[in-house]
Amino acid sequence: MEHLKKTTGSKEEQYAMLLPQIEALLEGETDQIARMANVAAVLHETFHFWWTGFYRVEGDELVLGPFQGPVACTRIRRGRGVCGTAWDRCQTQVVPDVHLFPGHIACSSASKSEIVVPLVREGRVVAVLDIDSEHLSTFDETDRKWLEQLAACMTRTE
Ligand code: SME
Repeated sequence: MEHLKKTTGSKEEQYAMLLPQIEALLEGETDQIARMANVAAVLHETFHFWWTGFYRVEGDELVLGPFQGPVACTRIRRGRGVCGTAWDRCQTQVVPDVHLFPGHIACSSASKSEIVVPLVREGRVVAVLDIDSEHLSTFDETDRKWLEQLAACMTRTE
């Protein structure tokens, strides 16, 4: 990531600087695993989240994809947990306190808040971006807005 510019300022400013750099990083690479791997690394390194990664839709399950952070559960059924809910509803889930989310899957007891953004191609969820924080209420509308843009760019330019 040495060629990425270091981002500073507010979260909004950091995302605004990061997105064009991620788009440039993805350009020319068609392999979705490689793309997910670098996106997870960039987000994790920039924001120092607890866990940053992807789950890919495989049949009726989500299967763990590229990620940064501690070991995670490998398979999640549709509708289960925050990830399975984002997939099932095709809708970003912003969870300020995971312990209040019915059916939350605790891959790590340190995780306190979470955001899950579906990656949609041709109307179908193909993967989800899952980010966990060890602090409560880490994610808000700013994260939702920018991460949804990122998700759109990941499926668009593939
Ligand atoms: N907490 C997620 C499971 C995945 S881990 O957070 C990496 C969920 O409830 O779907």
